[in-house]
Amino acid sequence: MESPRQAADNPTFEVDARGIGWIVFDDPERKLNVLTEDVMRRLARVVESAREAALQGRVRVVVVRSGKPDSFLAGADVEAIAAVEDLADAERKIRVGQAIFGEVEKLPVPTVAAIHGTCLGGGVELALACRHRVVSDSPKTRIGLPEVTLGILPAWGGTTRLPRLVGLRASLELLLTGKLVDARAARKIGFAGEILPAASFFERVAEHALAIVRDGSGTARPRRGVLGRLLDDTGPGRRVVLAAAKKRVRARTGTHYPAPLRILEILKATAGSSPDATLDAEAAACSELLVGTVSKNLMHVFRLREAARKGTGVDDATVRPASVANAAVIGAGVMGGGIAQLAAAGGVRVRMKDVRHEAVAGGLAHAKSLFDGAVERRKLTRREAAQRMDLVSGGLDWAGFGAADLVVEAIVEKLAAKRAVLAEAEGVVPEACVLATNTSSLSVDAMAEVLRRPERFCGMHFFNPVHRMPLVEVVRGRRTSDRTVATAYAFALAMGKVPVVVRDGPGFLVNRILAPYLNEAGRLLGDGLSIQEVDRAAKDFGMPMGPLRLVDEVGVDVSTHAGAVLAEAFGERMAPAPALVALGSSGRLGRKGGRGFYRYEDGEDAGVDPTVYDDLGVQPPRRGAVGPEEIGRRLVVPMINEAARILADGIVRSASALDLAMIMGTGFPPFRGGLLRFADTMHPRGVLDRTLELHDKHGARFAPAPLLQELARDNMTFYDAFGA
Ligand code: NAI
Repeated sequence: MESPRQAADNPTFEVDARGIGWIVFDDPERKLNVLTEDVMRRLARVVESAREAALQGRVRVVVVRSGKPDSFLAGADVEAIAAVEDLADAERKIRVGQAIFGEVEKLPVPTVAAIHGTCLGGGVELALACRHRVVSDSPKTRIGLPEVTLGILPAWGGTTRLPRLVGLRASLELLLTGKLVDARAARKIGFAGEILPAASFFERVAEHALAIVRDGSGTARPRRGVLGRLLDDTGPGRRVVLAAAKKRVRARTGTHYPAPLRILEILKATAGSSPDATLDAEAAACSELLVGTVSKNLMHVFRLREAARKGTGVDDATVRPASVANAAVIGAGVMGGGIAQLAAAGGVRVRMKDVRHEAVAGGLAHAKSLFDGAVERRKLTRREAAQRMDLVSGGLDWAGFGAADLVVEAIVEKLAAKRAVLAEAEGVVPEACVLATNTSSLSVDAMAEVLRRPERFCGMHFFNPVHRMPLVEVVRGRRTSDRTVATAYAFALAMGKVPVVVRDGPGFLVNRILAPYLNEAGRLLGDGLSIQEVDRAAKDFGMPMGPLRLVDEVGVDVSTHAGAVLAEAFGERMAPAPALVALGSSGRLGRKGGRGFYRYEDGEDAGVDPTVYDDLGVQPPRRGAVGPEEIGRRLVVPMINEAARILADGIVRSASALDLAMIMGTGFPPFRGGLLRFADTMHPRGVLDRTLELHDKHGARFAPAPLLQELARDNMTFYDAFGA
């Protein structure tokens, strides 16, 4: 009998009768192969065995492959990377990896990386250390270097070997964005020499490897053309390419993310130098990045996302979500149409119901245009898009609701109307069907009151535009069951969203935190700042757009309504800024109406509308009316203060869930790790001091949350008190 495979035996090395030495990664304890320190140590031994076997003539070619069904290597161990605190330790670990891959590169026989499935980070770097790379034609084969998204760079030779293999421009595309490419693109840029059929992949790999031994070199590199070579391979060409890339990086992320800038520096400084010198540069740069705050914060966010992805939304591990094959949406407007499209994109049959024919037609047209867009961007084939579009249908009646596993209500924001339509829906859907409301400002519990099965009801608060905004707040009402939460949570995940479970309460989580932030932006206008100054301060902090631009994007009407609801619920601290109230009654609608704080011509931004100041009832701006530091504080402190109240109210359980929701729901800068992680860098004591200063100056809306005072008194951070 075979003994069970041990983690210590991963990877394995075996020589077959044809003289092919197979290095096989297959971690028995993990779903994906990860290059942990143990695995790397073992790899070093295995490479040594391969070398000996090659020198003895027993091995003619070495193939590196995975034993997992659909993945090659997922890269280095993020947990271990995140734990590195010390610069020397970081550099030592990087050097060990570089040395092992260096041994792979030096093997005295041809080496082939046989890539089927996901190949990321360290996996790509190992493949780069091989002399040849072949990929399977499976759509699961995806190749990329996501290091930059974690605030670091590929330092096991990736930054050195990739540009030398595929040229400067193609390498920048991967190194600077972390994006994944499919087999075809990998072949096109010259990363992979051959695409082989997934069906008989390893057999074909073996034939290919033996052909390499027989015929000498592998396949020819793709030709780059004269201009391509000019740009990639000459000094002036490279300077043009690098300068343009730097401009793009700066436009996208400013100077907040050091990793892409370091990558560009390395490629600039080491042009024409030896691979060893480049390896030195990448090791030095990566160690600095590794111990820096930005990479730590980005890794924190990565772990939050992973935890959300693996979670179920409930504590009880025995609870299983119901599977959702048929969904339905009530209300085919902006949100309903978007939700239906998303469900269909995930392979779920979905029926829309509205009270107006035009709305149904509009919902279907919206879905179709999104699928067409996916075809244009080559995310879907025409046939796949058509198949998904076939899953969406709509009408004015309840047809299709009898088979629904989950229904999302997205009609007008009126409690009576929602109650009526939900109660009616409950009579039509199967017993076990989950009903969810997409309300953004009404109480889930108030709707549950009219239902016979309130335990099967919850909120699923999507954000606009649905296809782009990753967050879904899954709202747990007082009587919502675990299974209902788990079902809504799993459904959101299946649609590619990031769910965060929150309790019922005005504004739930994200809108409740945004309200005082937007209000403060309005008050800053009242104090004489310009629209540009306010929005710039938020962008300098790292927000993807300023608060006033956000009002325009959300819609002045929607935002005014939400502000009024929250003011009613929370009183003075949420009292809408006079400038925002004035804007609300000015008839301006924001982007959708062509006019808000900014002007829009044919949907394009045409800059601040100077006439808006009259509509706001504020004096024309005076340069420097409020100091830059105070602007930043006035925008950020109210968010932290409200977050403290949200935690104290039990709307969300943990600081990390709150941080994830803010990042996914508002684009709160990931490089800061989240709102409360940022607050913790100032310590609640520091936040309290600043809040009190603002309180003295501006009054009651800055009254510190009791929890903030407690944490400051007890010398605890938000993550100390509400960590997991
Ligand atoms: P919308 O006005 O675009 O769509 C509402 C649709 O519901 C309309 O087509 C209307 O004909 C239909 N409708 C009204 N009464 C109905 C009934 N009894 N039965 C069936 N259909 C009915 O509104 P939108 O923006 O899509 O909002 C829908 C819901 O989503 C609201 O609860 C809103 O608060 C919420 N929401 C909206 C966001 C936004 O930014 N627009 C963001 C997040 C949530």
